[in-house]
Amino acid sequence: MNTKLRGKHFITTQDWSVQELKTIFELAKLLKLEFAAGKINHSLDGKTLGMIFFDASTRTRTSFESAMTQLGGHGIYFAPQTMQISHGEGAKDTAKVLSSYLQGIAVRHCTYGEGNRYLNELRQHSSSPIVNMQCDVYHPAQILADYFTLTEHFGDNLRGLKLGVSWTYAPNYIRPLSVPQSLILMMPRFGIDVTLAHPPEFKLMPDIVAQAEKNAAESDATFRITHNMEDAFADTDAVIPKSWGPIITTTDQTAGLALIEKYPQWICDQGKMDLARKHALYMHPLPADRGKEVTAEVIDGPHSVIYQQAENRLHVQKALLSLIMG
Ligand code: CP
Repeated sequence: MNTKLRGKHFITTQDWSVQELKTIFELAKLLKLEFAAGKINHSLDGKTLGMIFFDASTRTRTSFESAMTQLGGHGIYFAPQTMQISHGEGAKDTAKVLSSYLQGIAVRHCTYGEGNRYLNELRQHSSSPIVNMQCDVYHPAQILADYFTLTEHFGDNLRGLKLGVSWTYAPNYIRPLSVPQSLILMMPRFGIDVTLAHPPEFKLMPDIVAQAEKNAAESDATFRITHNMEDAFADTDAVIPKSWGPIITTTDQTAGLALIEKYPQWICDQGKMDLARKHALYMHPLPADRGKEVTAEVIDGPHSVIYQQAENRLHVQKALLSLIMG
């Protein structure tokens, strides 16, 4: 266990060793139990997290803000249009000033080609840790919750677990690539064998795929890519089928939605779940496009752990914030 994490930025799990990530999971387990037992926690008394949301959120905002409250601290919600960011104030001045008031700065910025760059610019100039609440490349807090949820079902050692990550049809808007990219990066580092399925147009970023292959090879895990959705279900212990955009193919929203329309058959239904192992979990970070990405039978069925997964955002983020801001 490595507990020397005060001040460490959390932009991607790639910057964290497996030992450091394990520290988060150990603490999250403890904090979840303490919270269930009604124990008051003062780890972040007097500390403030600023949370800048360039994009909409239900779970991320609420779980980060509640995390701060439950640790004795305070979370401030910022909409960029109410800040001087709207008049062009850059990341350097924002980071220098806010980090003189705040003990942590968390940002959601999913605009393709901008979000991750903005977070890294903040990192360069901030004296407080920068936390990624989702950008165009990564959604690391979501993947902490996903991993933690898997350990609650399969135990602390997940080596050899088979996880399917699949693209799904969702025609209402274009989602970032950050969830599948963070999944394929982190899960193999814990020995989990990952199968990623997507139609040819929905490739992930090539450098992320190359890094995921390297991570898997270094951890004696497997990572493979297929264009057949069923492959992500066959003989798996858990599946995470969710939509993302065709960013590598086109950044044009209309063209992107037209590409999504080619694949309505990429839905997670009971037939596909039947290909997985009997105990297999259905997972989704939410929000899900019900009836398009997944049938009601599956998302509301006995193998679905979506609400446990969402709740675990709170517990892993409490652990993360106490370690880096404490
Ligand atoms: N999973 C997730 O990040 O949810 P929100 O977009 O509601 O924050």
